[in-house]
Amino acid sequence: EREQKAKTLYEVMEAACVFFERMLRMPEGKEGLDYFHRRGLDDKTIAEFRLGFAPDNRGALKAALKREDIDEKLMIEAGLLIEPEDSGRQSYDRFRGRVMFPILDRRGRVVAFGGRVMGDAKPKYLNSPDTPLFHKGRLLYGLPQAREAARHDAPIIVTEGYMDVIALHRAGFRGAVAPLGTAVTEEQIGELWKMTNEPILCLDGDAAGKRAAVRAAERALPILRPGKSLLFSILPEGEDPDSLMGAPGGFENFKKIIEQAVPLAELVWRMDVGAHKIDTPERRAALEADINQRISVIADEAVRSQYKSMFNDRIWKLFKGDRGGNTAGR
Ligand code: GTP
Ligand code: MN
Ligand code: MN
Ligand code: MN
Ligand code: MN
Repeated sequence: EREQKAKTLYEVMEAACVFFERMLRMPEGKEGLDYFHRRGLDDKTIAEFRLGFAPDNRGALKAALKREDIDEKLMIEAGLLIEPEDSGRQSYDRFRGRVMFPILDRRGRVVAFGGRVMGDAKPKYLNSPDTPLFHKGRLLYGLPQAREAARHDAPIIVTEGYMDVIALHRAGFRGAVAPLGTAVTEEQIGELWKMTNEPILCLDGDAAGKRAAVRAAERALPILRPGKSLLFSILPEGEDPDSLMGAPGGFENFKKIIEQAVPLAELVWRMDVGAHKIDTPERRAALEADINQRISVIADEAVRSQYKSMFNDRIWKLFKGDRGGNTAGR
């Protein structure tokens, strides 16, 4: 019974995806197509990512799927319709007046959507709610393509958003993925490690992106295993991979940034050392305590002991006045 229902939900999502794709080619979808073109996407990319358009209409998708004999209940379960609290009122399309990005699972099936407004209304992006097919902390946008790319040894690059993934693909970085509007979760890190030992996190060069990098580091530490880690790239202030790719020399700049990615251990070191003055014995002891605390969360014994010896060594050098290559501290 459960199996049967899940199968039907996949079909509902596929039908919705086809509808949104078709709408992009209709006169009413022209503003969506123009939007994508303005952002530098050509028809090949639009087809490859199955981008679409949701008309600014409360019943367009609902009516189209009804014509395919799809039950309204299923559309609600799939997260495509919103059911008003007041049961006397009609359910209506969740995605309206947005360009649409289908989210595929690891096997390439449509399980959710992200929709972006074309102007600057809020929210900028609207995602499907969690459904029986979609749990947002588990999936990564671009996953099926990245899995394929990883088989050809492409670097796996974690960006913030849909447009970043698409821009990197267009530039030939086919291992680009993005978490879906959340910080990177443990499950997503596990998914990344199935593809590569050292995925590169390449978050936006703004305060939010930097906070997200620190959060990702904190999530990864407890679950590190021999060989498995993260690398971190720091983008120029105010840039994201999409904006970098759009600028002159973007490809070369980005390539350099990726090549200069720093290991997780280095980021952790900077996080702690940057937060401390080390000009008195007490302050040095506080740094040492913080670093030991940080390392203590690493569950894997072999990795933990390697961190311990590396950081002990660095603290020792720091106390002797050598900053261990770090210039961010005071
Ligand atoms: P563009 O303006 O289209 O280039 O988007 P962006 O990807 O650069 O946006 P930003 O860096 O602000 O956000 C990164 C990602 O966070 C997006 O791709 C979305 O997945 C998510 N996000 C951004 N804004 C919102 C929002 O208002 N609501 C939700 N749910 N997610 C958002
Ligand atoms: Mn479930
Ligand atoms: Mn951002
Ligand atoms: Mn961004
Ligand atoms: Mn952007």
